[in-house]
Amino acid sequence: MILGIETSCDETAAAVVTADGEIRSNVVSSQAELHARFGGVVPEVASRRHLELVTPVLTQALSEAGATLDDIEAVAVTQGPGLVGALLVGLSAAKALAWARRLPLIPVDHLHGHIASLYLRPDPLEPPFLCLLASGGHTLLLDVRGRDGYRVLGTSIDDAAGEAFDKGARLLGLGYPGGAALDRLAQEGDPQAFSFPVARVAELDFSFSGVKTALLYATRELGEDLENRRADLAASYQRALVRALVERACDAAALSRHETIAVVGGVAANSELRAALPQARFAPLALCTDNAAMIASAGRFGRRLPYPRYLDLDAYASRS
Ligand code: KG4
Ligand code: ZN
Repeated sequence: MILGIETSCDETAAAVVTADGEIRSNVVSSQAELHARFGGVVPEVASRRHLELVTPVLTQALSEAGATLDDIEAVAVTQGPGLVGALLVGLSAAKALAWARRLPLIPVDHLHGHIASLYLRPDPLEPPFLCLLASGGHTLLLDVRGRDGYRVLGTSIDDAAGEAFDKGARLLGLGYPGGAALDRLAQEGDPQAFSFPVARVAELDFSFSGVKTALLYATRELGEDLENRRADLAASYQRALVRALVERACDAAALSRHETIAVVGGVAANSELRAALPQARFAPLALCTDNAAMIASAGRFGRRLPYPRYLDLDAYASRS
């Protein structure tokens, strides 16, 4: 069994996954409430909370799996991208455990982790496929030909899709992180009430900063009427974001000749996106937002660093 650890942003997570991709436990402790009053994740606050939570979360993941460290053959951990201080907490915990038990350590790329949420049982997906990864930190179109990696075809040149959902939610007074709340509010509104054009940028890239500004102006213009139109604004705004994601994903699939489109990351939980791509493979709801089962899953296909050749391993903040 592989022990997975994920601390790249504001979720402290640990999971136990078998070599053939069965989830034995998947514990996620979200810090969202802690950061809500700041309207976003405060990196230093996140790191400190990870420090407090990492040991109890690891203990719980082992106990829910009915396992002890004797049953673990390797430790997989997110190395980046993410908040460096937050990543270092998980990475240090992973090094300490692996070193103490003389186990190999597998550094995992967080984005590969999101893709690997599709490789878990009971219904694992087999490459090749075109993957849309839409989360709070990234919007990427990925060409996936094997389980050990991916190639980037397109990305957002400004805000990530999840960030656009969160910023829109904040403008509508829905709190942080507001993607799921906006999704719920949109179900009561008219998606054609407002027109929010999404900029089409070159090739297979995305841009979401303009549509957010359009929403800001719309809320200002409504003034006192805003309260009555919040659901319509949410529905129209969500429609614009989903359209942009769907169009680009279909373009990318056609260009790279993929028959299968897969969608992963926090925004893959969006009900309208799921409905707009009925033929696509979506990550299971529980595995859309950050978790450690996907990290352990990616670890199955990653490079194992033998004991003790990982003690100087460093975290990295960004993809490049
Ligand atoms: O993958 P994730 O947990 O974190 C990153 O790796 O960034 O994604 C979190 C993002 C947040 O922006 C959140 O608002 C968004 O996913 N999200 C949603 C929904 N559920 C979560 N966005 C739209 N609709 C949802 N139902
Ligand atoms: Zn993520």
